[in-house]
Amino acid sequence: MNPETFGEGWSNDELVQRLVNCVIRDYMSATSSNVVVGPLEIHDFSFCIGLEQRNEPQLSGIYIKLPKQDVSLSDIKDIGDQDRIMASRECHSLERLETDWPDTFGVSYVRLLGYLPEFNALITKRAFGQDFSVWLRGIDLALKFGYARDIERGIDALERFGRSLAQFHWTTRQPGHPDAPHPDANRLAVKLQSYTTALARHGVGPAALGRLSRLAAEPRLEQALRTQPLCDTLKGLDLRNIVIDDQGDLHLFDPGRLRPDSPFADFARFQATLKLLYWGRLSFFARLEPDRRFLDAVCRGYFGPDGEPAGTRLHHLKECARMWLMAHTALALKPWPASLKFTLRRAYIDPFFQSWLGDLSEAFERG
Ligand SMILES: Nc1ncnc2c1ncn2[C@@H]1O[C@H](COP(=O)(O)OP(=O)(O)O)[C@@H](O)[C@H]1O
Ligand SMILES: [Mg+2]
Repeated sequence: MNPETFGEGWSNDELVQRLVNCVIRDYMSATSSNVVVGPLEIHDFSFCIGLEQRNEPQLSGIYIKLPKQDVSLSDIKDIGDQDRIMASRECHSLERLETDWPDTFGVSYVRLLGYLPEFNALITKRAFGQDFSVWLRGIDLALKFGYARDIERGIDALERFGRSLAQFHWTTRQPGHPDAPHPDANRLAVKLQSYTTALARHGVGPAALGRLSRLAAEPRLEQALRTQPLCDTLKGLDLRNIVIDDQGDLHLFDPGRLRPDSPFADFARFQATLKLLYWGRLSFFARLEPDRRFLDAVCRGYFGPDGEPAGTRLHHLKECARMWLMAHTALALKPWPASLKFTLRRAYIDPFFQSWLGDLSEAFERG
């Protein structure tokens, strides 16, 4: 394809069609009549198309992903610099993960098959299964109504995830000097400060913010942080970026940027996404949280029988503040009456995060 004439005068639909034809020709040993092409999906930070090969003994297919910084602004031929950066970061992460995330424990990242620069499209092997967060919510809701049938399967999957993540961190750890100042200590403090300032602008009260600042300034935390190694971490590690298949194997995608950081940053980020299992649903406003055994399962898988060290706490605190701010920002963007938004903030969002902050504060006091 000639990049100079590419896209000239083509409609969005034509471009999608050309992209799909190109992928079927180059990545699938099939003719288009043997491929089921899904719709163009619009996600948070991407357009995606799922392809499935027909008449195969085993389910097989491909996912096409076009990263987009802002899905509301553009159609697929407007590729911005930021979109290209996102694609290149994701390609880099998936390439590294292919070697550094061994798929022991039935947990693996989807394989990157290629990249098409004309479309800024990533081509990955398709994972078939159920959205892991939906699957887990089903088990958790049943549990809340007294049906404990599938809880062991949920616990097992999360424990395997924890073990797998620990193995990835161990594989990619970098030798460091235990007395050298940890590069993250200061950055974390600055981040927490910026979240606190932004939360104050959203009207969160001084009592809660004071508590947040006091915890963040706790000298023992900085001390605990110093002793942590650095390893590869993944900014896209999220419960919502996982599919579980019929065998119970987990398939991860959307790793985001890979960056050397404290391993506990990943651990805390994932636990926060699990804690917010009901995020974005009405039930979130009923302050529903997943069963404690699910969070414990990730912890046991990750840390083994020794349990969670104190070094994770500052990371949990950061996640609590980050998610709190995200909840306010998301609500502010909703076209709802101001009085409704005010009620949701005061009656649901702030109490949820204050209670999380309270739990963290108790853990700090226990030493
Ligand atoms: N390889 C894949 N296999 C199966 N589903 C996928 C695959 N890649 C993407 N998806 C689907 O597309 C959705 C969006 O992809 P994702 O990479 O998470 O994009 P975003 O950066 O917009 O969150 C996922 O939630 C998942 O449902
Ligand atoms: Mg995603």
